[in-house]
Amino acid sequence: MTFSISLTINGDVRQIELDDPRVTLLDLLRERLDLTGTKKGCDRGQCGACTVLVDGRRINSCLALAVSLDGASVETIAGVGGEGALHPVQEAFIAHDGFQCGFCTPGQIMSAIGLIREGQAGSDPERVRELMSGNICRCAAYAGVTQAVLEAQKALSTEGRAAA
Ligand code: FES
Ligand code: FES
Repeated sequence: MTFSISLTINGDVRQIELDDPRVTLLDLLRERLDLTGTKKGCDRGQCGACTVLVDGRRINSCLALAVSLDGASVETIAGVGGEGALHPVQEAFIAHDGFQCGFCTPGQIMSAIGLIREGQAGSDPERVRELMSGNICRCAAYAGVTQAVLEAQKALSTEGRAAA
């Protein structure tokens, strides 16, 4: 038995046939759609390496069954930034050394983008640390991550005001 679902992934509508209803969104992205920028760390909802945005909300894609997301819009790290241009969050991670080995970074960046869009990043480092606490970094680049989120939040709110 196969299950047909439609997902918009990084702006592209994809018709997908699933031969197993137990396939997670993470495995669908990595193993079937070749979107390997989204990382698999623990595969059990504990590390945040697999964070993507589904209909604008941050989720651990290792915990979401693809079949349950029919019609959803999914944003992954592969869709962040434009032609030859980095997203302001990516720029801020570079400017503030928000990574070392980089394994957790796609999840950190997607989580940061979600957090800023939620309008919750603010300017308090403690609050940012708490709201990013679902994203674990084995290299302990937390100080840089927090600074990057704060700077990106500032840059994006300034851009928003300029565009208004
Ligand atoms: Fe999904 Fe760790 S791989 S939370
Ligand atoms: Fe290495 Fe975070 S940069 S795990």
